[in-house]
Amino acid sequence: MGIDTSTTATKAIVVDSSGQVVATGVSEYDYHVPQPGWSEQHPELWWAATREAVATALRAAGLAGRDIAAIGMTGQMHGLVLLDESNAVLRPAILWNDQRTQVECDEMRTRVGRERLVEITGNDALTGFTAPKLLWVRNHEPAVFDRIRHVLLPKDYVRLKLTDSHATDRAGGSGTHLFDLAARTWSPELLDKLELDIGLFPPTFEGPSTTGHVTNEAAAETGLAAGTPVMAGGGDQAANAIGTGAITEGIMSLSLGTSGVIFAAASQPGFDTAGAIHAFCHAAPDTWHLMGVMLSAAGSLRWYRDSFAPDADFESLTSEAAAVDPGAGGVTFLPYLTGERTPHADPNAAGAFVGLNVAHGRPELTRAVLEGVAFGLRDNVDLMNSTGIQRVDQIRASGGGTKSPVWRQIIADVLDTELVTVTTPEGAAFGAATLAAVGTGWFSDVTEACAEWVQFGASISPSGKVPEYEQPYERYRTLYPALRDWQSGR
Ligand code: XUL
Repeated sequence: MGIDTSTTATKAIVVDSSGQVVATGVSEYDYHVPQPGWSEQHPELWWAATREAVATALRAAGLAGRDIAAIGMTGQMHGLVLLDESNAVLRPAILWNDQRTQVECDEMRTRVGRERLVEITGNDALTGFTAPKLLWVRNHEPAVFDRIRHVLLPKDYVRLKLTDSHATDRAGGSGTHLFDLAARTWSPELLDKLELDIGLFPPTFEGPSTTGHVTNEAAAETGLAAGTPVMAGGGDQAANAIGTGAITEGIMSLSLGTSGVIFAAASQPGFDTAGAIHAFCHAAPDTWHLMGVMLSAAGSLRWYRDSFAPDADFESLTSEAAAVDPGAGGVTFLPYLTGERTPHADPNAAGAFVGLNVAHGRPELTRAVLEGVAFGLRDNVDLMNSTGIQRVDQIRASGGGTKSPVWRQIIADVLDTELVTVTTPEGAAFGAATLAAVGTGWFSDVTEACAEWVQFGASISPSGKVPEYEQPYERYRTLYPALRDWQSGR
């Protein structure tokens, strides 16, 4: 079983020994926005949803708890869960998409030194990460801070309820921004400089390792069997990459949903010196990964369609764009409609259409949107390459945006890399189940599990048009700094 505690739902899936998903249980919820830019959820919500999703999945599969060999955990990364000495929740969890901690990000850079911070963790400070949230609680809610005895990530709260043990996986742990990236665990130096007690943080485990067993109490609440092993699993992005088989250097995965995530497995703990690309531990043991997150990827296309072509379906809209040559007739689109995360960590970044004239119509603008997102991905990939990872020779693509063959070809050309669609369902939950399958001995390692279980669809190779994107990409690259200066009146 894989359990995914996401931002909008908890999902439990049952996977059989051939890698088929035989049942799914989902329980949805919302997140709370107490102030603009804030984002919170009560951990109890996740546990209630887990009970429901697990029971639904077992019922749908026609299985009893004892039929589940092992459970792998995954979920939203970077959230801050605070517990007192009796594991009672001290305040609502502060989530990954909460933006309140700009001041605390600066505090981290000042206390540690920006360069040293990137050197230890692989990343510059970011409002989304867990560490600045903990500093925010210390700065703004000192009475709460004083009572903290345990700091956990969202999925690890569910793990605690299932197994009565405090633990985290190393992929999720590195997303706290308190890890020594190379050592794959909490950094004593960082914790010292931030004046945080290492005793607040749980032991860390590799993805397939067993972190505990389902307790009698949890068994009674969920229908699972007491004693079922619960494996570490991984943060949602790393687990999702296991589900696409992106576990060895040279393979990237691309998830083209509302946001666009480009993920490269790495055999070394490399990072870009500016810390603009995320560098985390992978959920496959002793591997790392680099990751770029664009906030509006397929979200840009949806916005464009809804605003300017509400009667068109995505397929007809994107096929119109196929008739336009690379470069979109000179139109450039910047996809920063909801700010940006990587490589420009800038919540105020703005989107744009630039270079319009009367000869342009819908096909050119549509093509510019598809290309603009592909160029944003290329910005991330170029930075990843600067860290010294092997040249990538295949991208494993999933998510709604990859349904468009036109868009897939544009991305394959802009990144000059073969793009293969992954048809394995259920993303992160599937990756978590895969890690559990390895942990329980069905496979000798993650590589073997991925070779057996990951399934592929269509493949698209770069076309002869690759060179035609060079000049439009250069045009694209000059626009973000120019627009930023224009916005700030410089
Ligand atoms: C990863 C990230 C999101 C969250 C929510 O860095 O911020 O993927 O994990 O799903």
